[in-house]
Amino acid sequence: MNSKVPYTRLLFFKEKLELDRSAENTLREHSRLFAERKEEFSAYFEDFFSRIEQTKHYLEVQDYPGRLQKIWEKWFEGLFSGSVDHSFLDIMWKSGTTHVKINLDHRYVNLSYCLARSFCRKIIREQVPVGQQNDIGEAVEKILDLCLLIETDAFITNTYQCDREVIMGIAHQIRNPLTVIGGNIMRLKRIPDSSDNMVEGTYETILGESRRMEKMVNEVCTYNEIFHKHPEWQVLNLHEQLIKVIEECKSSYSLDKLDLQIGFAPLEIMILGDPWETGILLSHVLNNAFEGVDPENPLITVQTSLDPGNQKFALVEVFNTGVLTMPDDPKQLFTPFYSTKSAGTGMGLSIARAAARKIKGHISLYPAPGGGVICMVSLPRSDSR
Ligand code: HEM
Repeated sequence: MNSKVPYTRLLFFKEKLELDRSAENTLREHSRLFAERKEEFSAYFEDFFSRIEQTKHYLEVQDYPGRLQKIWEKWFEGLFSGSVDHSFLDIMWKSGTTHVKINLDHRYVNLSYCLARSFCRKIIREQVPVGQQNDIGEAVEKILDLCLLIETDAFITNTYQCDREVIMGIAHQIRNPLTVIGGNIMRLKRIPDSSDNMVEGTYETILGESRRMEKMVNEVCTYNEIFHKHPEWQVLNLHEQLIKVIEECKSSYSLDKLDLQIGFAPLEIMILGDPWETGILLSHVLNNAFEGVDPENPLITVQTSLDPGNQKFALVEVFNTGVLTMPDDPKQLFTPFYSTKSAGTGMGLSIARAAARKIKGHISLYPAPGGGVICMVSLPRSDSR
């Protein structure tokens, strides 16, 4: 859990907070005043957090008595050193990383920053000449904002990294035995006596279930990734994106009699979105249509248009001749692990919805009036602004 310090991002925060040379100089000019009160500051923190049930054990059980108090003292003094350099960013980043490691509830970190602010305000009120109070007050707010931003960034980054490592680890651990199971079943299938119908059926069930589990594991990883990946917005050609996904589906599903009708709008539609998330959304919508189409009457249509209700959006309508059993609450369709198909993973539509939300789009699924299923996706256009 030792993430690299993202200096560029942290310095960007510093710039946005306007923590410039002049603010740093102001902090340095008043450093003695604050440094003199560092023990008092740390004692204030100690007293406050040792009275809270959820935090007192951090003070009671330490590597050696007073270690945490020393950390707080040093940090408090360091705020007024007047140089937000890499070593300052390192310390702040490390604080967030350590707070994750020791499982500190982040609400108490926020609370401690509120305390630090009011402690500094009190010093300013009591000891700084009125004419200088505004400047030092602003500089203190900025440095505390920066510290909290860095700590929170490190906290979120490391928490996500832990979740991700666990999910990826589980996925890896499940995938391996599934491969072994699949390989063994294939071997058993090749034994001459095993061709009797019942045995063959059992093998197929085991193989089908292990493939379903493998798919589920991959989809859980994708679902998790959507929530945490930073989107990279790009202008994308909707029709090109759709053709790519349709071709992939055509080669994955062997539907001999498939009637695939494509009705694209007669104009180029440019959309705005992250290429990976847009691809995930369209791929899950199309895969859902291919998977659910009636094998006796396999018709799929894909149409695009501009949203008549809101020209800032483009619409993709995917129809198939399948059947959709609507749950009592339609929202359930998009809930992870909810599936209307016996062999489904229940992740496809929830992934599609998560991706749609991420790129500011929308997805709905409903039974077509004359039979079949319609999936409607709206996506933000790039050329409508
Ligand atoms: C303004 C608020 C806070 C700041 C600036 C801060 C800063 C730090 C820093 C710089 C470290 C050392 C990181 C390292 O080098 O590994 C640290 C560690 C730690 N912090 Fe915080 N912290 C704050 C709030 C809190 C609170 C509210 C608690 C719990 C009551 C807490 C508990 C701890 C503990 C237990 C450690 C590990 C100490 C050790 O290594 O023995 N911190 N913190």
